This record gives sequence, structure tokens and C-alpha cells, in this order.
Amino acid sequence: MDKLLITGGKQLTGTLTVSGAKNAALPILAATLLSDKPVLIGNIPHLHDITTTLELLGCMGVELSVDEKLNIEVNSSTITKLEAPYELVRTMRSSILVLGPLLARFGQADVSLPGGCAIGARPVDIHLIGLEKMGADIKVENGYIHAKAKRLKGCSLILDQVTVTGTENLLMAATLAEGKTIIENAAREPEVSDLANFLNKMGAKISGIGTDVLEIEGVERLGVEDLHYNVLPDRIEAGTYLVAAAMTRGKIRLNKIQPKLLDAVLDKLSEAGAKITCGKDWIELDMHGKRPKAVSIRTAPFPAFPTDMQAQFTAMNSIAKGVSTITETVFENRFMHVQEMQRMGANIKLESNTAICTGVKNLTAAPVMATDLRASASLVLSGLAAEGETLVDRIYHIDRGYDHIEEKLSQLGATIRRIPR
Ligand code: EPU
Repeated sequence: MDKLLITGGKQLTGTLTVSGAKNAALPILAATLLSDKPVLIGNIPHLHDITTTLELLGCMGVELSVDEKLNIEVNSSTITKLEAPYELVRTMRSSILVLGPLLARFGQADVSLPGGCAIGARPVDIHLIGLEKMGADIKVENGYIHAKAKRLKGCSLILDQVTVTGTENLLMAATLAEGKTIIENAAREPEVSDLANFLNKMGAKISGIGTDVLEIEGVERLGVEDLHYNVLPDRIEAGTYLVAAAMTRGKIRLNKIQPKLLDAVLDKLSEAGAKITCGKDWIELDMHGKRPKAVSIRTAPFPAFPTDMQAQFTAMNSIAKGVSTITETVFENRFMHVQEMQRMGANIKLESNTAICTGVKNLTAAPVMATDLRASASLVLSGLAAEGETLVDRIYHIDRGYDHIEEKLSQLGATIRRIPR
């Protein structure tokens, strides 16, 4: 397994371009299954999860080609298999996103049930209950979801809990259902809106985009000629680099980002002492060489503070001036990074779903192990701010969600090197 070796203590400075959002690209690629017309998708990040999704589409018989600008053309008219096998779902839970589109367009889908994962149990009951309400016949047998339906029927759905991929699966299913579907308590994450905008470009009739009530008037078929859609920028990647700069008392500029996507994160960075300046599609952060101040956070669905930035802020608070509390309300086990940070000298106490963090002046390097994507990112950030050489193991998690992380950090002046297995 590859590792990252980081020599800490360098102030990050410079300019970066933000990549396309992983969590928008994944549902958009799944949504191409709803149409028999080829679609060209741009601004797709170079990530392991994207490769897995393309592999999944490929093994269903979907034709894929990449042009010189790295746009991906997806042609689902050639589909032969309506199945997402265990071997792929096991490595990437979001494979569940093919369930809604396959069922809506072909009336059948066999998708392996995703298991638990490092950050929580992560059931998919809300996806399945919603599809059943739309008339699907669903059986879970031998670890697989077997779903059938003649044509899904529009209905009124009130989701028990805000779920991002749950909203996305039901939204995609509803586009081809007969009649109107209303999804209440829908997730408002920008990636859900990006998917909805893409579906509308394919001919879907979705209104209420960006709110927690989505109304979908089902249509007979989806697909238009010559559709080219660019994926939204990655707000979590952007947030991660901003925290890296804040932790190293640096100054960076990010291009190709929509600052609005990061309101909650930028507020907290300002509270930590960063000077934040934004333009239409860029953000600048300047710490003026100062140590960050501790900031308390509580994660919750968008527009509140994102759970996908919790680990990075825990890293920042570990070296900040003062005491902070970090409360995780979305996933029940998303503090795996804390034990590794403690090994680097962080003073963090865990009390149920809250971490109480007393900032220390310096972390000290140690060999650490990544456990999930954002935890891995937080350990890299800790390494950037620590004294000495930090070796981060199991970085395959990072390659799932960060496009060329060591190149991008090197571009900002970090000393970071991949050590191949
Ligand atoms: N939940 C249920 N039942 C369901 C669905 C969800 O109880 O049927 C619960 C989950 O267990 C969790 C909460 O609802 O406690 C929210 O989970 P959600 O379904 O929103 O998460 P997700 O859709 O599986 C997406 C992102 C995650 C991100 C979360 C929350 C993708 C591919 N993944 O996951 O991204 O943390 O929303 O914003 O969009 C990451 O990028 O590192 C990542 C984990």
C-alpha cells in the first residue's frame, strides 16, 4: 500500500485550481443510465471512486470514451446487465446510486447491499422504503437488493432523515415515474442540486432545486442530443486546502470554486483568524503568519457545517489557540482520526459524539494510519503542521477522494512525497 511522507513546518503559499466534486460526479455518472442518448460529462476529478464507477458502468455494458480534454462520453444505449456486483459495491458504497436509475428505466435492478463502513452503519432503508412507495417490489436476499417494477408511480415521500444519496436515488427514480413525486425533507447539499440540474438538462421536470421539497413531474423518457455537462467544483477539496493553509499560517488562493458553496466553512475560518477574500469564482485565505484560534463546530446537513470537513477542523483545532468542542451529528463513528492525532501529541478528549480539544503549540511527527477518506486528509494536514517527518499509511482512502493531493500540496510549497508500496 502506498504511503505519504510529509516533512512538516512549511508555510503553504500559492494558487490552486479546485477539481470537480466527487460527490456530484458519482450521482451524475449514475444518472446517465436514465437515458439512451450519449452524454458528455466534463470537470470529472481524477479519483479512484470515479474509476470504480466507470468500471461498474462498463461491466453493465455501457460504452465509455474519454476525449483529449478528459471529458467522458457515456452511452447507456448498449446496456446489457442490470446488476451492481458485490465486488464493486464493497469497495464503493455509492454504487447504490445505480439502483434508482436502473429500476426506473428498465424495471429491474440487482444491486449488492452495501455493508457498514468505517464512519458508521450507514443503512439504505430510506432509499428502499421510498422506492417501495413508488410501487417497486423489493427483496433483500443473499446480500443483494432485488428490485422490480412495471413503471414506478409518482407519490408523496417524507424522508425520515436527511440523506444525500437517498434523496439522489429517489430523485432519479422519480424522473421516469408516472405522475408527480414530491420529496419532502430532501437533502439540500449542492451536489444534490447539481444532479437535479443535470437531470433537467436531460429533459427531467424537477422544481424546488436547492430547497428541502423537490417536486418531480415524471416524463416518458430522458435524453437530448449533444448534451455536455460540467460537474460542480468540489467544496470539500477546497475546504481541505484552506484548512491546510490556515494550519501552516500561510496564504493561498483557490480558483474555479463557487465561494457560496463554502459559507459555513468560510465563517469558521474567519472566526479562526483567517482573512478571507472572495471573488465570483475564487477564494483567498491569509493567516498573516498567525496561529489559528480554536473554533467550535457542530456538523449537520447543508447549509450547516459539513461532516466531510469535521476531521480537517479537528486537526486545525488540535494546534489552535484555545479550547474547542467538535460535535458530530451525522455519522455515529466519525472520530477515528482522533486517536491518531493523539499519537502526534494532540490534546483531545472524546465524550460520546463530541471531541473536546485543547490546542497545543506543536504536533510532533509520528507514523499514522488512515481509516477513511476525510480522516486521512486530516492526518495529512496534521503532518503538514507537525515538527518532523510524518508517514501516513493506507492512503488508498485519500486516492478515492482527492485529485493528485501530493502534487497540489507540493505546488503550495509543502514537502510531501508518495512512497509506493
Ligand atoms: N441514513 C439512514 N438511512 C438511509 C440513509 C442514510 O439512516 O437510508 C443515515 C446515515 O446512516 C447517516 C445519515 O443518514 O447517519 C446521513 O447519511 P447520508 O445518506 O446523507 O450519507 P450518504 O449519502 O451515504 C453522502 C456523501 C458522504 C457525506 C454524506 C453526508 C456521497 C457519495 N457521499 O453520503 O461523503 O459524508 O453524504 O453529507 O455523496 C465523503 O465524501 O467522504 C463522504 C463520506
